[in-house]
Amino acid sequence: MTREFDTPRQLLPRDSYFDDEWLARERRTLFDRCWVWAGLEADVAAPGDFLTTRVLDQQLFVLRDDAGALRAFHNVCRHRGCEVVEGKGNVGKAIRCPYHRWTYAMSGALRAVPNEDACFGSVERERLSLHAAAVGVHEGMVYVNPHPEPPEPFEEWIAGLDEHAWPHDLGAGDLKFAGEVTYEMRCNWKVFYENAVDGYHLGYLHDRTLGPLYPDRNVWRRVGRHAVWYSTERDGAPQSSSVLTARFADGAGAARLPGHEAAAYPGVVMLFPLTILSPSPWGFYVSILEPVDAETTRMRAMSWEPSAGGASPTADARGSAGFSPVAGGVLPCKPEGSGRRFDVFGEPSVMRLDDLDTHPLESGNFQIEDMWICEKIQRNLHSPKFEVGPLADGPGAESPITHFQQSVLEHVGG
Ligand code: FES
Ligand SMILES: [Fe+2]
Repeated sequence: MTREFDTPRQLLPRDSYFDDEWLARERRTLFDRCWVWAGLEADVAAPGDFLTTRVLDQQLFVLRDDAGALRAFHNVCRHRGCEVVEGKGNVGKAIRCPYHRWTYAMSGALRAVPNEDACFGSVERERLSLHAAAVGVHEGMVYVNPHPEPPEPFEEWIAGLDEHAWPHDLGAGDLKFAGEVTYEMRCNWKVFYENAVDGYHLGYLHDRTLGPLYPDRNVWRRVGRHAVWYSTERDGAPQSSSVLTARFADGAGAARLPGHEAAAYPGVVMLFPLTILSPSPWGFYVSILEPVDAETTRMRAMSWEPSAGGASPTADARGSAGFSPVAGGVLPCKPEGSGRRFDVFGEPSVMRLDDLDTHPLESGNFQIEDMWICEKIQRNLHSPKFEVGPLADGPGAESPITHFQQSVLEHVGG
């Protein structure tokens, strides 16, 4: 019998989850050379179009050049380091830094320096091009890598994913951007990732939000370093959503995308190491992990929902930002009694567990339930009694955790 995953066991040392030196090594060997979701190809369709993004503390931008090719650069002027572009838009014929107007061609080459003769004599332009980054496109979505020549080329990184393709086309106009929220969690990024690929906890921690997704009723499939998740609760092909999720979303009036009744594509696509995609019959969700420090992780979650085809979902019917659609997009928040509610798809905002005025298990939101657990794990990582016991075997249990840890170790080393 071939196994989808190796027999699960804990491979990473305990201090890898809270040690600053570990995070510094992860930056050098993994994050500084990893592929991360950056935006939509439709937003950089015409020459001069650009979008900005970041990978941890590296500011980057993607530009459609005058020959029609996509390029990526570090958003760092070679004069005094100002960001050269902001937000998204079109640079026109050249990239102009707003500070002293050093001007770069779309190739990144430094083209013009104001008052060059008087102020500098001359500037060695050939040594002062914008620093290149790398860019790739898959399914209409743009990915960047801070490294100009990544050790893992984009095609290699994304290989195999097409076998698990989803039908959503974010450039086709049948989905509209619904908003974003940032979750801030007091845990190491790996604690969150391991929880996200743990199929064993779903039917227990999330019994009220995701339903009885016991280890034999959900499955992770490995795709290179990535993993994709399906519900196997129903007869027939594995599906993107749990039975309870579908009941909540449909019951709350969320519009389904036309033709998504069967939804036989993955519900969660964990793209190692920082990107989570979640296609569903009710929309499309992208979440980006941002390790802030060794014990703090932010997750920026963006959502698209059907632009037509039914009643516009109410805020309560929108997905819980995170990586799957579940009812409960509005969370009751402190201060108690003020009536303040936290619309996870309202204005961009940061959500922390402390903001809740209800117990996480009462939130009706599986993302909040996960944050609650991850912070509990993180606290106990410092206990002298902490030890990882036996892990549950199987692709709908804890085996994907070991697969993830193998990838971390391949980058960071033992
Ligand atoms: S920092 Fe960009 S021109 Fe001076
Ligand atoms: Fe979870």
